[in-house]
Amino acid sequence: MTVPVITVDGPSGVGKGTISHLLAQHFGFHFLDSGALYRLTALAALRRGVDLTDEGAVAAIATNLDVVFLHDSSGEVKILLENQDVSLDIRTEKAGNNASKVAVLPAVRAALLQRQRDFAEAPGLVADGRDMGTTVFSQASVKLFLTASAEVRAERRYKQLIEKGLDANLRGLIEEIEQRDERDRSRSTSPLRPADDAITLDTSNRSIEEVFAEALNHCEGIAPGH
Ligand code: C5P
Repeated sequence: MTVPVITVDGPSGVGKGTISHLLAQHFGFHFLDSGALYRLTALAALRRGVDLTDEGAVAAIATNLDVVFLHDSSGEVKILLENQDVSLDIRTEKAGNNASKVAVLPAVRAALLQRQRDFAEAPGLVADGRDMGTTVFSQASVKLFLTASAEVRAERRYKQLIEKGLDANLRGLIEEIEQRDERDRSRSTSPLRPADDAITLDTSNRSIEEVFAEALNHCEGIAPGH
């Protein structure tokens, strides 16, 4: 792989999105939100009345996913599915749960593999997900794996959802997050786990600034001039 890639994996609500965005901004790299592809696949399947356990049908939807990531000047990303803005629809906890249901299907993961790899373009890429370091970019230059307790993660998710104006209930969130993580960890294809050469960062009781500073330390020399 000629293009430098930083992978940022870990369970939900651990701060991957925030740290990945900061890294991408710092280095001027592209950004891959791989979870969005699973969320979009589940949403597109449900909109067509496809059962989320129908592996062949969901994989066909993943292969043909008509999605555009639109970046505006403020750095916000709009996600269009078949020309329709679904940026908010895919962020609900229900959409995350549905994503993790289609993510257990090997044919769906295979269908999304090349699409994800295509994001690795010059000058570099920060890839956020569950299997970026183990499967999709196993040759990545730097692999980070973020962790935090389930309570801390649920509280962060709660705040994020409320800020977006979405409905949330803290106790329900803790349960849903634990269930989703369990499904992600126990699936047979590309389960959530750190790559052997990943650096694990516990984000539980640390500020974004502290975690970002440590992440940056591990990325030294990745891009000229940084
Ligand atoms: O990161 P996000 O919460 O958007 O991911 C939603 C779901 O998509 C995860 O719970 C997981 O099941 C699935 N996913 C995955 N592999 C990735 C990214 C996300 O299986 N690389």
